[in-house]
Amino acid sequence: MISRNRIYCEDCIEFMEKIRINDKVRIDVIVTSPPYNIGKKYNTYSDNMEHKDYLEWIYVVAQRSYSILKTNGSFFLNIGGTSVDPLLPFQVLNKFVDAGYKLQNTIHWIKSISIEKEDIGNSNPIGVDSVSIGHYKPIRSNRFLTNTHEYVFHFTKTGSKPIDKLSIGVPYQDKSNLRRWKSAIQDKRDRGNVWFIAYPTIQHGRSHPAVFPEKLAKLCIKLHGFRPTDFIVYDPFMGIGNTALACLELGVDFVGTEIDQEYIEYANQIIAIKKNCD
Ligand SMILES: C[S@@+](CC[C@H](N)C(=O)[O-])C[C@H]1O[C@@H](n2cnc3c(N)ncnc32)[C@H](O)[C@@H]1O
Repeated sequence: MISRNRIYCEDCIEFMEKIRINDKVRIDVIVTSPPYNIGKKYNTYSDNMEHKDYLEWIYVVAQRSYSILKTNGSFFLNIGGTSVDPLLPFQVLNKFVDAGYKLQNTIHWIKSISIEKEDIGNSNPIGVDSVSIGHYKPIRSNRFLTNTHEYVFHFTKTGSKPIDKLSIGVPYQDKSNLRRWKSAIQDKRDRGNVWFIAYPTIQHGRSHPAVFPEKLAKLCIKLHGFRPTDFIVYDPFMGIGNTALACLELGVDFVGTEIDQEYIEYANQIIAIKKNCD
């Protein structure tokens, strides 16, 4: 039996197989970001497999996860490409499809954006000529633009899982839509599949080279729809615990795996701090 609200220092593939065989629990939501095989400097994990081996490995991750996910569960896979390997996210996507998943939504996570007055129209809420928001690490290249975006692929088993769009909805910009559209029963509309989420200015030191913001995990779990009981979120590649923090915030159970004990210790510290603040 797995213990809830714990990060196990284990290989996720072995862990998922143990759950499949020994445990009755099935997972409601998986939110995760695997290593991208782009040579990131992790503490323990070596992020430079042969490309073919990496895709085979990710296929096994997809297969194992499928076997422990509930029939109406969701797998939110955060993955980005690099300028020199822009097809990687789609090759990984294909491995998930090969493992039986349906791609239900493609979400674009925007880390930084510049908006100019001429593109906003008359009701300019920004009030300045242009604004640039968010953080990114510029690349030095005369060929490539800096990548300020990653994907979140939303996989389900059926492709038709109802989602709770308004739980992450945004207010109507033009309030007259509220009167005109019968479907608009509250001042909230679908935010669409382009999510601007900036990294917090100060990340928890430099304890991990490839994190996603807690808010990304939070939006995914809310979009799937969640209950306070009889519900569990799993992050196979937990890193320093941002999925766990999102679960704490929402009041749902989580379980995680991570092969690096130092990352787990760090995650446990920030989880404890968050618990003490609540
Ligand atoms: C992209 S990072 C995840 C970061 C996480 N989303 C966060 O915000 O902290 C991927 C993590 O997977 C871990 N990892 C690599 N192979 C693993 C495996 N087989 N099982 C579990 N964790 C693994 C790495 O140590 C790394 O921390």
